[in-house]
Amino acid sequence: MTVSNPPTPAAPAPAGEVLLEVTDLKVHFPIKRGVVVDRTVGHVFAVDGVDLAIRRGETYGLVGESGCGKSTLGRAILRLNEPTGGQVVFDGTDVARLKGEQLRKSRRRMQMIFQDPMSSLDPRQPVESILLEGMHAHGLDRDKEATARRLRELLAAVGLPESSLRKYPHEFSGGQRQRIGIARALAVEPDLIVADEPVSALDVSVQAQVVNLLEQLQQELGLTYLVIAHDLAVVRHISDRIGVMYLGALVEETGSQELYENPLHPYTRALLSAIPVPDPVIEDSREQILLAGDLPSPANPPSGCRFHTRCPWRQATLCDTDRPQLREIGGGHRVACHYAEDVRDGLIQPHKVEPELVEAASVNPDAAAPDVGSVTEIL
Ligand SMILES: Nc1ncnc2c1ncn2[C@@H]1O[C@H](COP(=O)(O)OP(=O)(O)OP(=O)(O)O)[C@@H](O)[C@H]1O
Ligand code: SF4
Ligand SMILES: [Mg+2]
Repeated sequence: MTVSNPPTPAAPAPAGEVLLEVTDLKVHFPIKRGVVVDRTVGHVFAVDGVDLAIRRGETYGLVGESGCGKSTLGRAILRLNEPTGGQVVFDGTDVARLKGEQLRKSRRRMQMIFQDPMSSLDPRQPVESILLEGMHAHGLDRDKEATARRLRELLAAVGLPESSLRKYPHEFSGGQRQRIGIARALAVEPDLIVADEPVSALDVSVQAQVVNLLEQLQQELGLTYLVIAHDLAVVRHISDRIGVMYLGALVEETGSQELYENPLHPYTRALLSAIPVPDPVIEDSREQILLAGDLPSPANPPSGCRFHTRCPWRQATLCDTDRPQLREIGGGHRVACHYAEDVRDGLIQPHKVEPELVEAASVNPDAAAPDVGSVTEIL
């Protein structure tokens, strides 16, 4: 048996200066009930103790099943969701404590790109107004000539013609609209961009173009990215490091290549084993790990290891009772599993798991409840 070490401090960002450091971040949404007076009858533990660090110029990919808290984490970093606890230190300042003008100023440096460019762009505004809005709010549009030049530069940077300025969002294709969303984020000269499923609403044929554009802009402008995605292929292609989330917390984090070659957390192993291999001989012989049961409710997460209700490696001790911390097990590879070394060394083997009856994932009738996705949805 392996006894877990104490938790490691926030992610061991490889070389380079850390731009964003998240420590024990929590976002708990109250569940309200009551006809006359709203009573809080519980909480959705959407994000429940996340530690991660992203260094300047890095791309950090975040993956996990639908409803595991990825968007809430991204939004909490930008203070679009109010954190319940923990720290978000951006370039040396704790954003979670900023107020008023200071918060507004810090928002300029952290921008978000959304999944659905149609609903995130105001249909009544032409592109010029959409791009100017943020610049105006942050006083970046004072010189008329410089502003006009900046608008042209922004469009050129995302590969759109100047004539786009007078058009409205509905006059563009999905891929072009996402380019406008990217230009809008760039307009205020951010350092960090949180891209929440930036290509999942787009046709497969244009997904690669938008991913390439994001990479090219990163090189030109020195941007730092947190890219959230269901599609492990998208994250693998673009990320330096990847964090895997399960029920409000990170379960594994390491370099992108290392994660695919040497996944250690049983959940990550199950996710990766579900990806088909193009070679039919390998495909027929390789082991596939099927996860039993649905994602448990984030309002009533399982005790101990949150993955124990579905884990094929679950052991009789610790798994049901002690919550494993995300701990480094060498080379900057962090895993939240009591038995990570034993799984790695093949000292314990996967076994069949009987599905347990768990409460459905969405319990708050007022919440924007996402669909509870299957494990293969993430691929
Ligand atoms: N404003 C809110 N109020 C209450 N609960 C919320 C709110 N926003 C999200 N939730 C709940 O928090 C949990 C995490 O949601 P979140 O949208 O962060 O997941 P996600 O990983 O981004 O999912 P998806 O992949 O479907 O986008 C879900 O159970 C969701 O219902
Ligand atoms: S701690 Fe136990 S239940 Fe959790 S992932 Fe590791 S082996 Fe599985
Ligand atoms: Mg989401």
